[in-house]
Amino acid sequence: QYPNLAPTPPMGWNNWSYYMCGLNEKVVLDNAQALVRSGLAHKGYRTVTVDDCWMAKQRGPKGELVPDKAKFPHGMAYLGRQLHKMGLKFGIYEDVGTLTCGKFPGSLGHFPQDAKLFASWGVDYLKADGCNVPVPKGQSKEQAYHDLYRQQSRALRATGRPITFSVSAPAYFQYSGDKVWHQVIGWSAQLGNLWRGGADIAVQQSTPAKKWASIAFNFRYNANLADLQRAGRWNDPDFLLVGDAGLSRAEMQSQMSLWSVMAAPLISSTDLGEISPEARAILGNREVIAVDQDPLGVQGHIVQQDGDGVVLSKPLKNGDWAIALFNSGKTARTLSVTAGAAGLPEAGAYRVRDLVTGRSGLTRRDLIARNIPPHGTVLYRVTPH
Ligand code: DGJ
Repeated sequence: QYPNLAPTPPMGWNNWSYYMCGLNEKVVLDNAQALVRSGLAHKGYRTVTVDDCWMAKQRGPKGELVPDKAKFPHGMAYLGRQLHKMGLKFGIYEDVGTLTCGKFPGSLGHFPQDAKLFASWGVDYLKADGCNVPVPKGQSKEQAYHDLYRQQSRALRATGRPITFSVSAPAYFQYSGDKVWHQVIGWSAQLGNLWRGGADIAVQQSTPAKKWASIAFNFRYNANLADLQRAGRWNDPDFLLVGDAGLSRAEMQSQMSLWSVMAAPLISSTDLGEISPEARAILGNREVIAVDQDPLGVQGHIVQQDGDGVVLSKPLKNGDWAIALFNSGKTARTLSVTAGAAGLPEAGAYRVRDLVTGRSGLTRRDLIARNIPPHGTVLYRVTPH
């Protein structure tokens, strides 16, 4: 079992869905500074991850990975030092195959060497993608992936540096039927701390409709994996687009609330320098973050569904419950759930607090959210009395 380096879901920022391969030192450090300046770092968003395309196309003379000089003129150890000085953590991207998805050198055949190099750069978090994985004769695809992720996991441990390990393998098995896919998540949870599932969250150039569709898809996908998660071993439905132009306020709020009730990693991928005050407030809502980061580490389950209405519920450490009422439809509507159906213990009354508006009230039985906008979610914290 890989060390438990993420007792609560990882939080931070990654360049991918906003900048893709257009990343460089300035982009990364500017966003890192924005995390600090906005107070988001203080609220937990601390791991800054450099995604694909940070490398040169060729390894160096000793077989070592080399950063792209034009993008990272001072190198990666420098970047790590700058992030650490800001009180942040340094995340990096690699791939367990021959090449990354962007066709830069993968780690296959170089696991110990690359892991040592990352450790020497002060890397705290590795996202290991799974593009370009060759399947040797006589092996299944599942065996091939398992073998490479095992090598990656061992190499990270052998460095002696605590490096949080994000495994992308399950994302490469999502269409292969329940059994294989459960198996892949099973070993991902042994080898790492979190694992990607579902599809990629849409990138910045996509239409607003596509962005929302990718959020809705990954929500559905991830909600069905609730039984495969446990505290310290997290399903990762990919980036938060909150702040990305094109999403409505309700949609941004929804993604944040749904990810939090699922105890998903909160990894923003946007230009934090340009983000609206409204979006910053959504990302920085302490009470919503507390639902995500609750020490019990339970992923909320779907407890009720009717048409476009979905209700999720999760117990919290102090005896409270988080209940999300999600209107996935195109028109505003009222959603309600009884305390019993939401899984709450019997009580004479329940104190219900809307974590977005801050409004509280008492109810005896029914949790009712009126007039939820299209694609909107209401997130309650409920205290049995
Ligand atoms: C696929 C991953 O799912 C994305 O998050 C991103 O890392 C790209 N690969 C990079 O090529």
